[in-house]
Amino acid sequence: MKKRIGLIGGGQIGGNLALIAVQKQLGDVVLFDIPQVEGAIKGKALDINQLAAVDGYDARVTGTTDWKDVAGSDVVIITAGVPRKPGMSREDLLEVNLKIMRDVAANVKTHCPNAFVINIANPLDAMVYALYRITGFKKNQVVGMAGVLDTSRFKFFVADALKCSIRDVEALVLGGHGDDMVPLVRSATVGGIPLTALVDKEKLDAIIKRTREGGAELVALYKTGSAYFAPAASAMAIAESYLLDRKRILPCAAYLEGEYGIRGYFMGVPVQIGAGGVEKVIELALSPEEKAEMEKSSQSVKRTVDSVKI
Ligand SMILES: NC(=O)c1ccc[n+]([C@@H]2O[C@H](COP(=O)([O-])OP(=O)(O)OC[C@H]3O[C@@H](n4cnc5c(N)ncnc54)[C@H](O)[C@@H]3O)[C@@H](O)[C@H]2O)c1
Repeated sequence: MKKRIGLIGGGQIGGNLALIAVQKQLGDVVLFDIPQVEGAIKGKALDINQLAAVDGYDARVTGTTDWKDVAGSDVVIITAGVPRKPGMSREDLLEVNLKIMRDVAANVKTHCPNAFVINIANPLDAMVYALYRITGFKKNQVVGMAGVLDTSRFKFFVADALKCSIRDVEALVLGGHGDDMVPLVRSATVGGIPLTALVDKEKLDAIIKRTREGGAELVALYKTGSAYFAPAASAMAIAESYLLDRKRILPCAAYLEGEYGIRGYFMGVPVQIGAGGVEKVIELALSPEEKAEMEKSSQSVKRTVDSVKI
């Protein structure tokens, strides 16, 4: 039977998630949004269905404002919420997006009790925590998308600096989805060669800075919202690994119970994603500097999450 992919929020990222899911033929898509934008959501669904006819994709998109249509989804991806505008931090979205998350999470719990749920809404680490607490889902069933995107930005900046194929860049960004995220320079490689052997410190520092500020760079360019193509592709990589039991190792915000010295919070760490959801948290031996950076990042995450009070 075809898989069902429930997308909660049919804005910029939601629309692109639908498009990518159809192009990858991962299953049928239900694009859900609020009644105020019913026309737009139905329009996006129809538009993508007509695109599917051009290339012969066997997947159907339904645009809806009725949670009943989302029921039974195998995977649910949440983008419902407001994006940043220039000058805003992700934390500035906390109040407005938490209100939306309370409504969305309660409905996910009711209508999709067995789904694997990926949150994208910001501030990421606090929203995924709220989602986890409100649904009461198992920890392997809930994940936040940030690390795949932050890592893809890091990889792109490396490939761009070296004028090399992005395929050969291997890297990992851990920590919270904020300015103190932790790009792991020590383990980054290009074609099997340590990155540190190919790029001088000055260039490397510039790459790290641009990675950390990668979201803000796009907010400043777009002016009306934040990035959406790469975030959609990043979340769909997680969904694909779940739906096809690929068992990929991807950096995701996962609920930690002592790993990396963190307990009771979601943080960006390498996890294995397969049919069992978050099947494994992979714990790396970090250098003292990396440990200190993880600690700093986790303090920022804790500050935001503790203000959520759920
Ligand atoms: N995790 C990441 O790496 C990452 C990257 C980029 C953006 N984001 C975040 O993703 C979120 C979505 O971004 P976007 O660009 O798609 O925004 P958008 O404004 O284009 O879309 C958000 C959609 O959510 C809908 N919505 C609002 N309340 C809802 C509800 N109760 N139920 C269902 N839908 C509801 C809105 O109507 C809108 O269509 C933002 O919070 C943004 O900050 C996260």
